[in-house]
Amino acid sequence: TITPVILCGGSGTRLWPKSRRMLPKQLLSLTGEQTMLQQTLERVRCYSQPIVVCNEDHRFMVAQQAREIGFDDLTIIIEPVGRNTAPAIAFAALTALKNGEDTNLLVLPADHLLDDVDQFHAAVDSGLQTSADKGLVTFGIVPTAPETGYGYIQMAGESPESVKPIAQFVEKPDLGTAQAYLADGNYYWNAGMFLFGAKTLLDELANHAPSIAAASEKAVKNAIVESDFVRLQKADVESIPEDSIDYAVMEKTKAGYVIPLECGWSDVGSWSSLWEALDKDEQGNVALGDVILEDCTDSLVFGEDHLVAAIGIDNLIVVDTKNATLVAPKDRAQEVKAIVSKLKVAG
Ligand code: GDD
Ligand code: MG
Repeated sequence: TITPVILCGGSGTRLWPKSRRMLPKQLLSLTGEQTMLQQTLERVRCYSQPIVVCNEDHRFMVAQQAREIGFDDLTIIIEPVGRNTAPAIAFAALTALKNGEDTNLLVLPADHLLDDVDQFHAAVDSGLQTSADKGLVTFGIVPTAPETGYGYIQMAGESPESVKPIAQFVEKPDLGTAQAYLADGNYYWNAGMFLFGAKTLLDELANHAPSIAAASEKAVKNAIVESDFVRLQKADVESIPEDSIDYAVMEKTKAGYVIPLECGWSDVGSWSSLWEALDKDEQGNVALGDVILEDCTDSLVFGEDHLVAAIGIDNLIVVDTKNATLVAPKDRAQEVKAIVSKLKVAG
């Protein structure tokens, strides 16, 4: 069986002011009717009932958004505080094992766009045997820019199989390294999506990050189960070292495999990547919500609460919400993070 594990604990700060602490990116509908979480759930409807791992603040919204599209039987693991993806995935693996037999965990971030779902399902199918053979499968996206916010996966030589052994997994390299990887041609972006057996993952975690494995086990053992919710205790979770699955396991494991995937993937990390991912008008604009554009080019304009009109702007991001407005050159969209940290300091 395949049990989808949906990681729903991120904060999406670079999509401020639309993405907020109480309503982060994955719970918003930025690109259509459905929220990003709902789009992710749709993608895995053909597998077993998913496990969603989310923050306490979002548990009711998660349950509600799932119910709206007919997912009534999810398991929702509630984190009082986030400890990054290694513990989150460990909670899901331990819960899955507690609920039944060993299963293939298909780990997916709740906040990515993916166009070609058939390609994605085919890639998952082709990874199942490797997962059964105790491999850790990742999905590799052909890189188009020297992004430093992604993990890079180097294939071990040319392999005719669709599932290729990993020579090297490098999480978030510096710019020079990323440029070299791009030129090399043997590297893929890690999409943050994984396929592995629940037991295999826990064994690898126990090998490479034993303190995370032990503390996560204790947290799940002490968890309070209330109908669909698995509520972890705050003190237990706080005692778990914080780390991503990429650093804790993928960089270190010898059992890593990659399946190249061409499916129109975007992690929509910022307004500029949202602009890139969406359909544009003939002048290269993305207009979302209540917007009128006159003689504008290559811009993203978002009007949520009232009409936003622009004349003659080029390569700009304009995001207007009920209580905040952002205006920035498109190539500086990453710097929204700085605004959000200022806001945090200001309270
Ligand atoms: N439940 C839970 N708890 N989910 C979390 C937590 C947590 O503590 N921390 C992060 N997540 C979720 C986020 O919501 C997101 O969907 C996913 O896990 C990945 O976390 P990010 O914080 O967005 O990671 P990243 O973007 O820096 O890097 C990862 O994703 C890249 C692709 O988007 C890595 O896997 C990179 O290697 C990869 O290229
Ligand atoms: Mg991300």
